[in-house]
Amino acid sequence: MKDRRRLEGRVAVVTGGGRGIGRAIARLFAGEGARVTVWELAPPAERWWEEGRGEITMDEVDVTSAEAVRQAAARAVARHGRVDVLVNNAGCNLWHQPHLEDLAEEELQRLLEVNLHGAVRVTRALLPHLPADGRVINISSILATQGFPGQSAYAASKAGLEALTRVWARELGPRGITVNAVVLGFIDTEMNAGLTPELRRGVVARTALRRPGTPEDVARVCLFLASADAAFITGARLPVDGGLRL
Ligand SMILES: NC(=O)c1ccc[n+]([C@@H]2O[C@H](COP(=O)([O-])OP(=O)(O)OC[C@H]3O[C@@H](n4cnc5c(N)ncnc54)[C@H](O)[C@@H]3O)[C@@H](O)[C@H]2O)c1
Repeated sequence: MKDRRRLEGRVAVVTGGGRGIGRAIARLFAGEGARVTVWELAPPAERWWEEGRGEITMDEVDVTSAEAVRQAAARAVARHGRVDVLVNNAGCNLWHQPHLEDLAEEELQRLLEVNLHGAVRVTRALLPHLPADGRVINISSILATQGFPGQSAYAASKAGLEALTRVWARELGPRGITVNAVVLGFIDTEMNAGLTPELRRGVVARTALRRPGTPEDVARVCLFLASADAAFITGARLPVDGGLRL
């Protein structure tokens, strides 16, 4: 007999799930029985979310707008009554990797707004609707703890997100809600499309498994954290990096 699907009856919100890692998470969660709402700044022209057998709704939302997030939370709750699993995945980086002296004020603000404040805004909006076994999964990066030149803004935003993960795990633990961070190495998505071939080769050479990760590698770990199997894990940083951090 086939196993019961691991997220049967669960309701999930995945931010930035129009493409890349978020799309893989949304697809996998839906395939495992969840009803998924994707909050996406730029919904893609190709309506991939209508293809699967699972239920995925695409909602155009900018996580930097408190009002847009508030309205999206109201729509999600009106549709499904609650949200069991939130994946704070929306994120961006700077293609040109500016060192401190070249980092523009607007660039710093933009990255903090999307990667850090966005997660605060979204989590706060959905908090009243998370049940006792709710899950929050924050998508971080090994750059949060590595001093990689040209990554001031991104590193600060992800280090902040990991700090929030620990604080929220403490704050929400008494309600039964778990909060964890998935800490990614180099994953093949459009976010990295602008890297030079040399930089890409260098990162892969430093990865113990000698390959970039796939969005599906990440999605499977998020599925574990969202599932009943991870009920007693909270405040953790789970590396999904093929050994790049070592
Ligand atoms: N790809 C990697 O190597 C890597 C490594 C470490 C961490 N990450 C993190 O993984 C997450 C997903 O990244 P990805 O690689 O799939 O990149 P991606 O650029 O393919 O996807 C990011 C998605 O977030 C959306 N987004 C951006 N700003 C938004 C906003 N204001 N509101 C709503 N949606 C917004 C984008 O439109 C896009 O669909 C990000 O948080 C990223 O920082 C990626």
